[in-house]
Amino acid sequence: MNIAVVGLGFVGLSLSSVLASKGYTVIGIDTDKKKCIEISKGCVPIYEPDLEKTLKIGLKKSLKISNDFSTIKNSDMIFVTVGTPQKINGEIELSMIKKAVKSIGQVIRKTKKNPIIFIKSTVIPGTIKKIILPILEKESGKKAEKDFGVISNPEFLQESNAIRDTKCPHAIILGGNDSKYMKKAKKFFSKMHPNVSIIITKYQTAEMIKYANNSFLATKISFINQLSNICQNIPDVDVDDVASAIGLDPRIGKLFLSAGPGYGGSCLPKDMSALINFGSSVGANTTFLKAVKKTNDEQINNIISLMEKKLGSISNKKITILGTAFKPNTNDIRDSKSIELIKKLLKNKVKISVYDPKALENTKMVFGNKIIYSKSLISALDKSYGVIIMTQWKQFESINNKLLQCMKNKLIIDSRRMLADKELNGEYYAIGIGEK
Ligand code: UDX
Repeated sequence: MNIAVVGLGFVGLSLSSVLASKGYTVIGIDTDKKKCIEISKGCVPIYEPDLEKTLKIGLKKSLKISNDFSTIKNSDMIFVTVGTPQKINGEIELSMIKKAVKSIGQVIRKTKKNPIIFIKSTVIPGTIKKIILPILEKESGKKAEKDFGVISNPEFLQESNAIRDTKCPHAIILGGNDSKYMKKAKKFFSKMHPNVSIIITKYQTAEMIKYANNSFLATKISFINQLSNICQNIPDVDVDDVASAIGLDPRIGKLFLSAGPGYGGSCLPKDMSALINFGSSVGANTTFLKAVKKTNDEQINNIISLMEKKLGSISNKKITILGTAFKPNTNDIRDSKSIELIKKLLKNKVKISVYDPKALENTKMVFGNKIIYSKSLISALDKSYGVIIMTQWKQFESINNKLLQCMKNKLIIDSRRMLADKELNGEYYAIGIGEK
């Protein structure tokens, strides 16, 4: 079985590495030549636990990396994993996926194979039928379902757990028509993930499932964040105890109820905006989804107002921000709430010092010399008037009274309640915990 994976971001690189490590012959394609050279050497351009190890195993077996589409001509299966980023108006940008399927179509034109093309990239319902299929048929001069198959196969992996999720997905969604290609796809996935449920459905339903999944996760987070704001205004209430208790109800479930500064990352914010846009475009009411998004957009304002309440004027004061990655165990800062917070604080002329174990380089690309980058917790905290914990990196658990001594004013705002059990000599406020 020859497999091609087109687009070597989090999803594509994890998928090609895992497939190759399992013994499939895999070609990973990316248009970025420099990136391809690095990946071929076993260097991963992003920080993702276990990815480099898995990539190296794959490369030792049968993984090849190339920026030349013609190398995929013998593929039986082609996974499309290119990004569909957000445009300013909230819609998704299809130029990369259009380019990728155009190149795939041109390869299919010359091949004797009957490949299956799996669309893993997140696209709004109707995109495969209305845009992707016509491009493939035009460029290949062949017929879908007869000469090649096209299947929607949305991806649910979480960054920082990309390898685990690629090896053990919670479900496999296959969207398309009932054809020989669908039967072949089902057989492939049943062998690869013997104990995982496979849902076979129509294209549009598969595309919708992805948005439903992410918007529900966003809903849970906005729900608990709104509750955390209420809890914070009541003495002796801890939002984590509330979340753990309601999470025991199987109808609710315990995951994604961890309050914080709001959801970020390259998927949830983008998918919420795209779904709201799409819903409105088909004449549906999106009041609820808009409220979820608004709750998320407003969440960091609570942190800023708490800080202003405690410090008075914040302009020209040094404030320490701990964590710029959108979540721990990644160096990804895309749509990170921390980045948004820094931008807002800079408008208020705050002097910012940041520390993040992995994301400082990416942060520098956004702020240049506008903020101070610290290589350690202690230098980040030095002479600071207040510290805000944004990302729950394990390292921040080590914060103690000794470390806080170097601060000018010991105001600690903990958006993740990481230090809630410590007796700290300072003013400690945790999002979602009422003052005693
Ligand atoms: C998400 C989806 O989980 C995944 O299924 C999809 O394929 C891609 O989008 P990811 O972007 O990697 O994955 O991050 P995720 O772990 O979902 O976290 C998203 C954001 O929500 C982060 O900013 C995180 O800190 C926040 N979050 C998550 C919370 O604030 N509380 C929670 O309980 C969970």
